[in-house]
Amino acid sequence: MSQAQVRETINEASGTVFRPGLEGVPVTHSSICDIDGLQGNLSYRGYSIQELAAKSTFLETTYLLIWGELPNPQQLRDFEAEVQMHRRVSFRVRDMMKCFPATGHPMDALQSSAASLGLFYSRRAIDNPQYIYDAVVRLIAKIPTMVAAFQLIRKGQDPIQPRDDLAYSANFLYMLTEREQDPLAARIFDRCLILHAEHSLNASTFSARVTASTLTDPYAVVASAVGTLAGPLHGGANEDVLAMLEEIGSPNNVSAYLDDAITNKKKVMGFGHREYRVKDPRASILQDLAEELFARFGKDEMYDVARELEAESASRLGPKGIFPNVDFYSGLVYRKLGIPRDLFTPVFAISRVAGWLAHWREQLGANRIFRPSQIYTGSKSRQWIAPSERTTTEGS
Ligand code: COA
Repeated sequence: MSQAQVRETINEASGTVFRPGLEGVPVTHSSICDIDGLQGNLSYRGYSIQELAAKSTFLETTYLLIWGELPNPQQLRDFEAEVQMHRRVSFRVRDMMKCFPATGHPMDALQSSAASLGLFYSRRAIDNPQYIYDAVVRLIAKIPTMVAAFQLIRKGQDPIQPRDDLAYSANFLYMLTEREQDPLAARIFDRCLILHAEHSLNASTFSARVTASTLTDPYAVVASAVGTLAGPLHGGANEDVLAMLEEIGSPNNVSAYLDDAITNKKKVMGFGHREYRVKDPRASILQDLAEELFARFGKDEMYDVARELEAESASRLGPKGIFPNVDFYSGLVYRKLGIPRDLFTPVFAISRVAGWLAHWREQLGANRIFRPSQIYTGSKSRQWIAPSERTTTEGS
């Protein structure tokens, strides 16, 4: 596609405007998440992200996102108990995962295993509230188990079973690292899940809504969103942040790195966001979480580089509205929690499944299948010619 075709254009035939990437084009009404990118405010169902990250749990926030209200104590107990009961995955899924290549990316493993759940729970009763509840419970419960299982399988080990005495986040870290983590580490991980659970119509959520609009099953909805999240323009920037910090190496090298990036128009990873013109509120909370972790378990040596980069870039990128985003400090937190770098995006998926499912439900509540239009730029009225008479290769 030429550069001209990714700029905003007017379709002269219909008078409609083509906005590449649908930038600024509303595609739905939604009451799930609100972003004020000028003030740096983010809320889920009207509750500020700061308050949820401080006081809620990931499972409570998931319930809030999906059903629109905070659960009462009984509803929360029931939801937690149901999720705990469905954490195990069938031996058939585990056996299937053992056939995946150990060198495959964990996001591809997750997409395949999430899609496979549709084979086991294939009844598409999407107008049945019990079916919706059960599907939510299964997906929230089993996705962490599948992420942790692939990590052990690719090391040549058998996955370990979930532990019923451990809460959601503590259990995931246990299944992943094979040891029970300090409660502070588990709580900080749970807060990270809250921060990543929802962020309006990003690419993977839009993908989830498009898939949902066909009335297919929720496992296909989540598998499609996982595939979309896997791309480097969406999930994955936090891996690049760590690589960048390591390349910079020391706070003394930050200024020269920034000079070079700005002169050569290189993106500084973990900076900038389509929605925010100020520091992403999630980045501020993640920075606090990183400091809390470092105070207990020792500092990541790249933290000083990160802080210097944020300070130095304030005067150089700040005037353009470019500040740290959610990915800037999350990699440092995940590394301290013992999460391997190529699992950062699958961990993002564990959390974002809550938002995808909230959008799935909302889409079903007022559905019209997505079917946008296009501006045709190809050839017209051509005649088929026999292969022996062709002088040029079509499509070359
Ligand atoms: N470092 C340096 N300059 C940046 C930048 C960054 N991280 N992000 C944006 N800019 C600059 C661009 O170079 C461009 O400058 P110009 O107008 O002088 O050409 C301008 O800001 C607009 O950038 P653009 O890429 O069009 O903004 P966008 O809204 O489409 O992109 C991102 C948003 C997130 C894709 C982009 O900021 C980015 O690539 N960031 C780095 C990757 C990252 O952290 N992604 C995680 C997002 S949560």
